[in-house]
Amino acid sequence: MIKKLVLLISGRGSNLQSILRACQTGQIIDTKIAAVISNRAAAPGLVVAQAAGIPTEVIDHRAFPSRAEFDIALQQQIDQYAPDLVVLAGFMRQLTDAFVEHYPGRLVNIHPSLLPAFPGLHTHARAIAQGVCWHGASVHFVIPELDAGPVIIQAAVPVHTSDDPAKLGARVLAAEHEIYPQALSALLSGRCKLEEGRVYWSDPIPSCANTAINPVVITPS
Ligand code: GRF
Repeated sequence: MIKKLVLLISGRGSNLQSILRACQTGQIIDTKIAAVISNRAAAPGLVVAQAAGIPTEVIDHRAFPSRAEFDIALQQQIDQYAPDLVVLAGFMRQLTDAFVEHYPGRLVNIHPSLLPAFPGLHTHARAIAQGVCWHGASVHFVIPELDAGPVIIQAAVPVHTSDDPAKLGARVLAAEHEIYPQALSALLSGRCKLEEGRVYWSDPIPSCANTAINPVVITPS
């Protein structure tokens, strides 16, 4: 049976592109992107989706009097596609607890830092300002707390003294494009599972060309 993803975006859509490529090339098998939903009509990622023949929807958050009402509309739209996973791919909206709790174990996000370091915005500038040696990206299950929740996979990249936020951001983004398809492939095939609030991988993760580390493989006892 073909599994279905619904992707939520707000902008560029480069993670959408990496996930789409993974579905097309067989890195992610037996899976289709059922829809891409954006809260911004001008999101360039919508064009990427349309070019690939993926249904797109725009639900403009500004048309709703409250965050809760926007989230209800978003949830109704998503549920029409009955997705196996709801994938946040640069979706720049904080979600209500009710929305998050509607998708237990089915809502995932990518964040451009090594969580729990640097939740929130401007992560690359903050990493440089803090003088950290390593920065990176995390794919994680979404919980009501912002940029928290069980980590599925992380990739670390070095921070160079010559970095500015753009240079460091480009290095992190290349890592994002590797780890999001890996995480989705593993979740969809059951090689990676959420059990009692922790993530377990049943086999080693393929190493990432652009990244320095991969998570430890833990098997539940
Ligand atoms: C990525 O850096 C992602 O980690 C963050 O938003 C950005 C989205 O980029 N959540 P794109 O739209 O996928 O190119």
